[in-house]
Amino acid sequence: MKKILVTGGTGYIGSHTAVALLEKGYQVIVADNLYNSDERVLDAIAQITGVRPLFENVDVADEAACMQLFRRHADIEAVIHFAAYKSVNESVVKPLDYYRNNLDSLMRVLRGMEAVGCHKMVFSSSCTVYGQPETLPVTEDMPYQDASCPYGNTKRIAEEILKDIVRADGMKNDAHPSLKVLLLRYFNPIGAHASALIGELPNGVPNNLMPFITQTAAGIRPRLSVFGSDYDTPDGTPQRDYIHVCDLADAHVCAMEYLFSDGFSGWDAFNIGCGRPYGVLDVIRSFEKMSGVKLPYEIVGRRPGDIEKIWGNVEKAKRVLGWQAKRDLDEMTLSAWQWQRHLQEKA
Ligand code: UFG
Repeated sequence: MKKILVTGGTGYIGSHTAVALLEKGYQVIVADNLYNSDERVLDAIAQITGVRPLFENVDVADEAACMQLFRRHADIEAVIHFAAYKSVNESVVKPLDYYRNNLDSLMRVLRGMEAVGCHKMVFSSSCTVYGQPETLPVTEDMPYQDASCPYGNTKRIAEEILKDIVRADGMKNDAHPSLKVLLLRYFNPIGAHASALIGELPNGVPNNLMPFITQTAAGIRPRLSVFGSDYDTPDGTPQRDYIHVCDLADAHVCAMEYLFSDGFSGWDAFNIGCGRPYGVLDVIRSFEKMSGVKLPYEIVGRRPGDIEKIWGNVEKAKRVLGWQAKRDLDEMTLSAWQWQRHLQEKA
């Protein structure tokens, strides 16, 4: 049974990925400092899969603690590295915290991998590395553009660090790198597991669209503000490539299988999205249809830093990883609503 370390494994995407890995028979070790998540997520994972992943309460940005983690689990065969701060707004206010945490954690994990001879990593990246692309859908070979926030910059810099390390490893090993790194560039993950036992748990007032919608529908927020209707898009609102978090989790399983195959060495990057754009009003309409709840909302001014439109060309992930998204927007909004209702029932 292959042993995989999932850093940030109690977080939103990490927990869904842990479920997907366990269901495929991988042994999962979750490392998380619970900064932005809850240990009870492990109970939910156990309830869904029948297996409770081994949990390590570790801040992987802490050099000594991270090294000890790897020493305790020297037989780890691959790492999926999610652990990072992820708020765009907060990163603008606390850039140093973001650079320190997101880059330190990556480098500590890479040192740990080196120490125990672990050569495989899936890195949690973002379509934010493309900025506002000039042509759409965006392909993986498009150059990096200004991410317009420190959070986005940490993803671009982390990708560059990983590429440099793979290059150095190739030079050491006669152009045949032993290190294998997959950069998964997520578009906009929304939704929750069909069991409604795990989902997104934002701290305080949500910044992202989907949790704001579900909290508004639940009466926690008075109304949703739609940030701008004067964009050059079909309904005037910004377009995004929304992807169900369970499809995203499945992409990690496919990435893992690819890492363990003989056909790959070095690094590669993949867009992980549905490959089609939706406006904010499309998401609202889908939510209202699936939940039966009328959503109070108003159109307000643009949100600073928002790009107009982005969606991915996802052919490469299909061709190389054998992965494609299966769940549509209605399934995303319905599952997000079921998760919100589960939270309310528990409260
Ligand atoms: N939106 C609203 N009202 C809200 C929240 C969002 O109208 O209350 C709109 C935004 O203007 C945007 C869309 O909903 O058009 C999606 O916004 P999100 O905040 O959910 O997502 P973003 O596309 O802004 O950000 C996401 C991730 C980031 C990542 C970025 C890359 O959350 O981590 O994509 O483009 F960096």
